[in-house]
Amino acid sequence: RLSRSLSITSFTGLPLWEEDNLPVEDLLLFEIAWEVTNKVGGIYTVIQTKAKITVDEWGENYFMMGPYYEHNFKTQVEPCEPPNQAIKVAMDSLINNGCQVHFGRWLIEGSPYVILFDIGAAAWNLDRWKGDLWSVSSIGLPDHDREANDSLIFGSLVAWFFKELTDQLQDKPNVIAHFHEWQAGTGLVLSRSRKIPMATIFTTHATLLGRYLCAGNADFYNNLDKFNIDQEAGNRQIYHRYCLERAAVHCAHVFTTVSQITAVEANHMLRRQPDVVTPNGLNVRKFSAMHEFQNLHSTNKAKIQEFVRGHFYGHLDFNLEKTLFFFIAGRYEFSNKGADLFLESLSRLNYLLRVHKNDVTVVVFFIMPAKTNNFNVESLKGQAIRKQLWDTAQSVKEKFGKRLYEGLLRGEIPDMNKILERDDFTIMKRAIYATQRHSFPPVTTHNMLDDSTDPILSNIRRIGLFNGRNDRVKIVFHPEFLSSTSPLLPMDYEEFVRGCHLGVFPSYYEPWGYTPGECTVLGIPSVTTNLSGFGCFMEEHISDPSAYGIYIVDRRFRSADESCNQLTQFMFSFCQQSRRQRIIQRNRTERLSDLLDWRYLGQFYMHARHLALSRSFPAKFKMTHLNFPLVQGFRYPTPSSVAPSPSASVHSTPHHSDEEDDEPYDEDEELERDRQNIKAPFTLGAVLEGKKKQSGQNGN
Ligand code: UDP
Ligand code: G6P
Ligand code: GLC
Repeated sequence: RLSRSLSITSFTGLPLWEEDNLPVEDLLLFEIAWEVTNKVGGIYTVIQTKAKITVDEWGENYFMMGPYYEHNFKTQVEPCEPPNQAIKVAMDSLINNGCQVHFGRWLIEGSPYVILFDIGAAAWNLDRWKGDLWSVSSIGLPDHDREANDSLIFGSLVAWFFKELTDQLQDKPNVIAHFHEWQAGTGLVLSRSRKIPMATIFTTHATLLGRYLCAGNADFYNNLDKFNIDQEAGNRQIYHRYCLERAAVHCAHVFTTVSQITAVEANHMLRRQPDVVTPNGLNVRKFSAMHEFQNLHSTNKAKIQEFVRGHFYGHLDFNLEKTLFFFIAGRYEFSNKGADLFLESLSRLNYLLRVHKNDVTVVVFFIMPAKTNNFNVESLKGQAIRKQLWDTAQSVKEKFGKRLYEGLLRGEIPDMNKILERDDFTIMKRAIYATQRHSFPPVTTHNMLDDSTDPILSNIRRIGLFNGRNDRVKIVFHPEFLSSTSPLLPMDYEEFVRGCHLGVFPSYYEPWGYTPGECTVLGIPSVTTNLSGFGCFMEEHISDPSAYGIYIVDRRFRSADESCNQLTQFMFSFCQQSRRQRIIQRNRTERLSDLLDWRYLGQFYMHARHLALSRSFPAKFKMTHLNFPLVQGFRYPTPSSVAPSPSASVHSTPHHSDEEDDEPYDEDEELERDRQNIKAPFTLGAVLEGKKKQSGQNGN
């Protein structure tokens, strides 16, 4: 049944995918997730960035399913008629029974079809559907858990839809349904209990219990096999959710998760070993010239500098040319995301920079949404004052220019002491007086609703990082995701990341962790940990990650204090790099993008689909050795060029001054050298070729 075989090779030699394609024309693929058109966290990024390669493979036979929200639908979806009659009939049958189902194209790259189910409009069925769930699984849902109840409504609608669909299709085309995370998993449990003939996959992006246990300060990784999981779930009042999650895991033909570390966790917390690890990729866009992404760093950094000029008005006694921008971003899970470790390390970094009389200043942004009551006056005022100073400078500049021009026309150079009038000075003095402030620049940009108990603010109070004049580390807590329409910091997240110097994500609980991966493909170095899926993946595939701008904090085998020191050291070394070293490092970081490209990582999803079909329809779909992704053993070698590892070389190389930074640096030359090096015996292509030959010899 397997048709053509496709193999594309990227510039580093990584095969972007290497697998026989499925006969997609005889199949329909559905992917079901709560975050389809509905952004909450990283699962949205998985779904949204993967759409393009999935549509490329499946075309009109690919559909995503999610919850309907009017605002999301109006802003992200173009309504249209389903291209497939069976889907239309299945939808109509739900609609004729009083439910609301919407169809359209999601306006993202690849324009996939989406089927969205209105949860509120179907809520009148809740009690009946609770009964159905109970009768097939003995799982009862409490009234007060809105999220679990919504997931049941969503799952019941999805299972109903699949029943109607497969009743019409019979066996042609066959259906593959890929469910993500427990909120969508109920649809899988109900579909399987109703014996709906389709191949099912369940991907978990975390385990409920793992997330809770870690947030509660358990020594999680050393006790994985010791927890009484039923009891722990009960103690945290998530027993019903945990049952839903575990039921979905065990009902699926194929179970996958996003990293090796979460596979181990799932084995203990959900009692099933994942069949496939499906690492998260990104939709990588390459510029034809290397310097383009460097230019984007520069232009976006300039925007952040503008914000800093306003935010720190009256306290701009630090040199913005020697100021580095660090940031942490993501859902506000204080200790799981490592914000606790980060703050402690920043306090140590502040101390180190001060005692070494370092002239570098670090402005650190915390982008983590919390409950707020809009921007605070002081932050808005800062930007208004900056604007006023800018306007004043412009108007004086214009007068100055006009008078100078007139003087030159008369053939004379005007007396510089008289070219400006008393009024001009008055205006300028007034503008300067407005910049006086009696308080420190604010730590947070918004009015926090839980100011006194907020964990970031409480820790800042404890370590005393209040943006004082002597602090070399300044903090800006922006408790809202970024947006280009913000009156304060008008940048979208991607622009902001490009403008920063280092992303710091020292997570304790992080099944994958998109944020450092996003930094990588944008050419920005980042810190991750060996407890995050991403960190472990990079550790496995790169010989010297820090040379490529991937700093991996050891949170597994070291004490909290040692991890904190290691993070501090990474940041301190980073601060000692010259501009030239930073540029070289960014080039190397960006070169890792291929490794994170869906065109390469998408093969694991393909593999999961093959496996699910071979398990659900064994007579029709058979697995061959070729269906296994062959990627073990690939490693990026240490880069060949100048300083092998900028961070490691700092101590042994003399300090670079900014004059040295202006030395010509040939990016292309370094690129070519590394390209040669990477092509050596290390290419994944070579590994694959080797395996193929081997299996050929074995007569497979
Ligand atoms: N993110 C965003 N805007 C922001 C900050 C973060 O869109 O201002 C996104 C970021 O791009 C990433 C996601 O939030 O894709 C977080 O995903 P991650 O896997 O790191 O963590 P999760 O929230 O899923 O635990
Ligand atoms: C990019 C630009 C350079 C600029 C540099 C600043 O590489 O192409 O023109 O000098 O960024 O780097 P920095 O690390 O100091 O922000
Ligand atoms: C979850 C995890 C995160 C992962 C994301 C996408 O939200 O917390 O680590 O990156 O899912 O898989």
